[in-house]
Amino acid sequence: MTMRIPMPQPKQREFMLSRAKYTCYGGARGGGKSWALRNKANLMALRYAGIRQLIIRKTLSELRDNHITQLQLLTAGVAKYNESKYTLTYANGSVIIFGYFARESDIQQYQGNEYDVIYIDEATQMTELSYTMLTASIRGINNHPKRMYLTCNPGGVGHSWVKRLFIDRQFKGSENPDDYVFIQALVQDNAILMQTQPEYINMLRNLPDSVREGWLNGNWDSFVGQYYTVWDRQIHVTEPFDVPNHWRRYRCIDYGLDMLAVLWVAVDEYGKAYIYKEIHEPNLIVSDAARRISEINGDDEIYCTYAPPDLWSRQKDTGKTMAELYGDNGIDLVQSSNNRVQGWMALAEYLQPYTQQAADGSGEETTANMAIFSNCDNLIKNLPLLQRDDKNPSDCDTEPHDITHIADALRYYAVMHTVKSNPPDTRTEQQKMLQEHKKSMLGTNKQNRKWRR
Ligand SMILES: Nc1ncnc2c1ncn2[C@@H]1O[C@H](COP(=O)(O)OP(=O)(O)OP(=O)(O)O)[C@@H](O)[C@H]1O
Ligand SMILES: [Mg+2]
Repeated sequence: MTMRIPMPQPKQREFMLSRAKYTCYGGARGGGKSWALRNKANLMALRYAGIRQLIIRKTLSELRDNHITQLQLLTAGVAKYNESKYTLTYANGSVIIFGYFARESDIQQYQGNEYDVIYIDEATQMTELSYTMLTASIRGINNHPKRMYLTCNPGGVGHSWVKRLFIDRQFKGSENPDDYVFIQALVQDNAILMQTQPEYINMLRNLPDSVREGWLNGNWDSFVGQYYTVWDRQIHVTEPFDVPNHWRRYRCIDYGLDMLAVLWVAVDEYGKAYIYKEIHEPNLIVSDAARRISEINGDDEIYCTYAPPDLWSRQKDTGKTMAELYGDNGIDLVQSSNNRVQGWMALAEYLQPYTQQAADGSGEETTANMAIFSNCDNLIKNLPLLQRDDKNPSDCDTEPHDITHIADALRYYAVMHTVKSNPPDTRTEQQKMLQEHKKSMLGTNKQNRKWRR
């Protein structure tokens, strides 16, 4: 029995020829990503007799629609599909296992197994934890290649880890930059789709801005489900400057052993808030956290430090609250509100862009009531990654958890009433004394009038 091998298009060929440990083909919709993924798995199965491969996608129905049916047709007479085990076994002993991860616990059934190659279709639907667990299953005592191939569109619970590894290329721990290759997909790369269904690209063009940027242009800064779609680096990030002494300064914190997130906020005379310093550090007990805050704070005079109400719950072992412990260590906290929706909305008000006359008279400029100093890397990275909660679109999703701490800290600031700073006092000492004296005389006169009545 012979099999007709379909022809890949140039970007698909690039993806299929990649020998990197992790290759991601991502970006716009319709570029031909799923096609490339399943055809790569088929070619590997034919080339390496006995190879074990896993194709995984979120739901079983998506697996059927995108991969199982097509591979069954393609390999008819060469491989046999087992409906109850979701496996496709080739005559040469190779096997493709079809897996799904609709729930986090589904991953466990694949985690204990060994695979030579794993294919994750729609990887941005997968959490970082599941992805990491799967990477540990790429093993086997044989000479077959050991790799992972991923495809994805921007947006989804896995948006941030895919972006970190393949777009921003920010590696941590033992991650080796040479192992990661990204191939940008654009719908225009799929000449076959453009020819047979030219209206598909128009459908993408007609999508709302934030969705279109991700799905048509493969832009990773704007994606389906993004909470702050107004986020714009040009508007919300500013180069650091010396904060004037008369601006009122605040701190806001979110604390847990998994992460201490602290932001320093300075408010100008018009009420615009500048986030000018940050801490984002895990594994600090309260005394160490307090020491770190004092260290970074330096001589800044802080009006108050907002913290979430849960820091006022009593600890079973000490009988004290975290807030008390912070107080004992020199950081007095003020209780903020934990009304999530109100907090996110208050932050949305701060981030909302508006136009005004430029200060230098050069015409109009777009600005917002909050700007972040460009040295606050963690806030700048994580704030635009916040996703809407599917069940309550006014709230943010609490997953991926590691991106939420610093945004939560900012929310504790935004939800509280804050006041504009007074303009600097430019009076001379003599003028001040004279005015104070006049004020006190006025007070005395008023008192006298009251008594006389
Ligand atoms: N080389 C090819 N030969 C024939 N048809 C192809 C080829 N590449 C892609 N196609 C067809 O183009 C269409 C879109 O491809 P595919 O589903 O792989 O895109 P995708 O990038 O996975 O899209 P999505 O972002 O929606 O998941 C499908 O109908 C697919 O079969
Ligand atoms: Mg696809």
